[in-house]
Amino acid sequence: MVGVKKNMLEALGKHKPDHVPFWFMRQAGRYLPEYRELRKQAGGFLDMVYNPDLAAEVTLQPIRRFGMDGAILFSDILVIPQALGQKLEFLEGEGPKLEPIRDGAGAAKLNFKNFDAVLAPVYETVKKVRSGLVAEGAASTTMIGFAGAPWTVACYMIEGGSSRDFHEIKLMAYRNPEVLDAMMDLLVEATAAYLIRQIQAGAEVVQIFDSWAGALDSQLFRKWVCRPTRKIIDLIRDPYPRVPIIGFPRGAGVNYITYLQDTGVDAVSLDPQIDPKWAARILQTSVPVQGNLDPACLLAGGDALVMGVEKIVKDFSGGPFVFNLGHGIHKDTPVEHVELMVKTLRSLGV
Ligand code: CP3
Repeated sequence: MVGVKKNMLEALGKHKPDHVPFWFMRQAGRYLPEYRELRKQAGGFLDMVYNPDLAAEVTLQPIRRFGMDGAILFSDILVIPQALGQKLEFLEGEGPKLEPIRDGAGAAKLNFKNFDAVLAPVYETVKKVRSGLVAEGAASTTMIGFAGAPWTVACYMIEGGSSRDFHEIKLMAYRNPEVLDAMMDLLVEATAAYLIRQIQAGAEVVQIFDSWAGALDSQLFRKWVCRPTRKIIDLIRDPYPRVPIIGFPRGAGVNYITYLQDTGVDAVSLDPQIDPKWAARILQTSVPVQGNLDPACLLAGGDALVMGVEKIVKDFSGGPFVFNLGHGIHKDTPVEHVELMVKTLRSLGV
């Protein structure tokens, strides 16, 4: 790989890239006709995730169309509970369903017995994507691995699926913190092992998704978001001190500052509610930032999209920056809107 300049790695290393690097959360997915086609053939979503040929193909699809600077592994944050023995299904149109864990007896069933065997296909996918990028002339695209953060993954494990209010996990956090603590320790160990294996297979950057970080007050944010994330980062840095780790504490608001201080992440991904001017002054002066176009702006397209992209690039032009959405791309987004976003981005200087 000597000699290939990777703009995303340059930006994360606080160097000046040739152009503004970009990728999109959920860039491999249902807005792409070629994804929908393959998904129909594969059957279920998890059938795709655990099939390295299909998962690698789906990871590469958006890169072929749009030439992103980052290729994110096609997988899901919920493979970790599944690998620890919790039952998981994705029901069409309903999102994930897990058999909820509500007490110590439920948590005690989690184990590492099948962990490596369940996740082996994911590492195989990473390998295939790395070689696929080179074979397809996209060697300058950076391979991004990922995992969910323990707090967010525990939300799904305890609630049993998506939730609006997170009552079950919060009741556990207040009434039985020792049960949640034990689950968090297990998730820290599992997540660090999982990310390290992705790095060994070829991931050059890893992102930790904490989608529900915004559900907690400042004190619990430190305890359930920052502390476990810090532990994972320490475990990864021990063998891999130079692999950049991007944190995404979605919805954290001013707690983004605490997050940077407490976790030691190399870069942060910003949700659309974060004001870029504030972030440029308060966060980007210490770490590279990534984000934060509202996925609804991309869905809308037109002038709003062009102006949205221009504003974000301008606001973050003073420091290291990776352009992204502030959250996952909406499934009804027209492909032409993504083309317009890329064209707008490429027409702007660094
Ligand atoms: O392109 C990429 O970003 C890589 C793949 C990726 C997926 N999920 C694929 C996926 C990544 C990084 C994730 C992360 C993920 N998964 C998160 C964190 C980011 C976020 O969105 O907050 C969370 C919370 C999950 C859990 C999850 N997976 C939910 C709640 C759902 C259902 C919602 C939906 O959009 O249907 C999923 C399903 C899922 N994960 C899909 C994809 C492409 C859609 C599945 C399909 O094809 O039907």
